[in-house]
Amino acid sequence: MQIVKNIEELRSIIKWWRGEGHSIGLVPTMGYLHDGHKSLIEKAVSENDRVVVSDFVNPTQFGVNEDLSSYPRDIDRDAAICEAVGADVVFHPDPEEMYFPNHCTFVDMDRLTKGLCGKTRPTHFRGVCTVVSKLFNIVTPDRAYFGQKDAQQLAVIRRMVRDMNFGITIVGCPIVREADGLAMSSRNTYLNPKEREAALVLHKSLVLGEGMVHAGQKDAKKVKNAIRENIEKEPLAQVDYVEIVDVENLEPIDTIEGPFLAAVAVYIGKTRLIDNLKGE
Ligand code: PAJ
Repeated sequence: MQIVKNIEELRSIIKWWRGEGHSIGLVPTMGYLHDGHKSLIEKAVSENDRVVVSDFVNPTQFGVNEDLSSYPRDIDRDAAICEAVGADVVFHPDPEEMYFPNHCTFVDMDRLTKGLCGKTRPTHFRGVCTVVSKLFNIVTPDRAYFGQKDAQQLAVIRRMVRDMNFGITIVGCPIVREADGLAMSSRNTYLNPKEREAALVLHKSLVLGEGMVHAGQKDAKKVKNAIRENIEKEPLAQVDYVEIVDVENLEPIDTIEGPFLAAVAVYIGKTRLIDNLKGE
């Protein structure tokens, strides 16, 4: 397995692979890999002849007061994980390799990016769409793998690929959780032991909401309120949002009649965590 930092070098590897007739899978990440990332890489390895994992903390998707500088990084550990799982290349560019000092082209999206995380992170998805477009142009994969953990991101990427005719198959992968239910996230490393315990409230509250729907509750407002109230019982938790939305267009729904997405963002201490649950 190779670690590649240079775009032109990666392009020449891709060209060589294409010459050999290989299919190519891409797994975009910001590194500090955990079992959630690993599940995406494993799936990519099982479905493609060659797999590129990008490992890049993308500055353009962080707001000014967010955690760009403190975001955890460990390329040696990441590379060992990628190698063990069977990836062929880890693409780990420096920020200057990805963004010219006078970079001024961005890929942006209306509607899907305005609700949920877009409310508190208004420039986030512009950064995500921009870097993912760049990665798509550099790697030209057949398939790219994204986690349901970031449900809005997955919907946004699917829409971007459709709207911009990227011709890449987007593969959505299920949320990987710790044994106690906490969704795996690189940001979980910010939590102290008390906060780690408190963070369980996200998944527990979503499951509570799902239980209400299964018991016949169709009023989304009632389900949302119950989820919010349960989260608010946890003293270390502060709700950013609790929403029940349409799975595809992410518009809020009033009546739960078919598939729905219950999504939450919650501050546990200073750490903002997200989680969601897809229901039928
Ligand atoms: P990052 O947070 O590193 O996540 C990389 C990919 O792993 C995303 O598709 C995310 O949904 C998936 N993932 C994270 N935690 C997961 C879990 N517990 N179970 C399953 N999948 C999980 O998302 C990003 O990076 C960036 O925004 C990126 C797309 C790389 C653009 O910079």
